[in-house]
Amino acid sequence: MAKFKYEGTALVTGASSGLGEEFARQLAQKGMDLVLVARSKDKLTALASELEEKHGIKVSIVAADLSVENAARGIKKATDDEGLKISLLVNNAGVGTYGRMETLDRDAEHKMVMLNCVAPVDLTHEYLPDLLQQSRGGIIFLGSIAAYQPTPYFATYGATKAFNLMLGEALWAELKDKGISVLSLSPGYTKTHFQETAEVDLNPPGGFKMADEVVRLALRKLGKKPSLVPGKRNKFLAWSIRFTPRAMAAKLAGQLSKPGK
Ligand SMILES: NC(=O)c1ccc[n+]([C@@H]2O[C@H](COP(=O)([O-])OP(=O)(O)OC[C@H]3O[C@@H](n4cnc5c(N)ncnc54)[C@H](OP(=O)(O)O)[C@@H]3O)[C@@H](O)[C@H]2O)c1
Repeated sequence: MAKFKYEGTALVTGASSGLGEEFARQLAQKGMDLVLVARSKDKLTALASELEEKHGIKVSIVAADLSVENAARGIKKATDDEGLKISLLVNNAGVGTYGRMETLDRDAEHKMVMLNCVAPVDLTHEYLPDLLQQSRGGIIFLGSIAAYQPTPYFATYGATKAFNLMLGEALWAELKDKGISVLSLSPGYTKTHFQETAEVDLNPPGGFKMADEVVRLALRKLGKKPSLVPGKRNKFLAWSIRFTPRAMAAKLAGQLSKPGK
């Protein structure tokens, strides 16, 4: 197996469940020290103890709500206070809202944009100077196959994921000659707590992928390409939609996820 080229400390947001927890587990297995960020302090504490014991690494936790103004500044202060230098930033935390726009709670939508879009930008600003100083490391952004076309009933969520997809690909080009790897990871339906939080019961045609498989592939492709859509079916969907007129893509996506279907 090829040696993992990233070392030092990885900061993973949304590490208390789903893909973020899996990033933490697999990075720990590869010997990286960790900073785990999410709101659920108990879950982070339990995961930190387990990974420290199992892999002999150092794991710090920062219990924080990333949907509030200046959250990233607080996290940077916490890692600075511990004397930590981050070499891999995994901007994973994210939630989705589902339903007709007029039925969705304005504040919940606002918080989702803060969490899904503002936090990754702010955290990148906080940690990029350290990465550049080290001339090494990486940043991962969580897009989605929802990023590849308009997504009626997931309208704001899909737009936040398109934001991350484009942000990551643009930074890949900006940073590739500076020794910093950037990857936009765009999973399809993956078995996590996402569906519960979004209060949606999805039944995707090809079933769900497992988080461990998605994360394994992402860590393998980090530094090798700017963007990754895990799975042949998902890749085909993301590719083929590029040749479909956008109005038609929006109508099709709307038919598939209409509430009450
Ligand atoms: N699952 C899928 O099908 C799928 C597909 C494509 C993309 N994605 C993306 O994958 C990423 C991870 O989602 P997941 O599927 O693993 O869902 P998940 O199991 O629900 O995990 C979400 C994580 O985000 C954290 N989080 C939520 N709100 C937060 C807040 N305000 N502040 C800090 N942390 C917060 C949660 O921790 P706390 O509740 O403890 O704060 C949790 O650790 C998201 O960006 C999502 O858009 C998921």
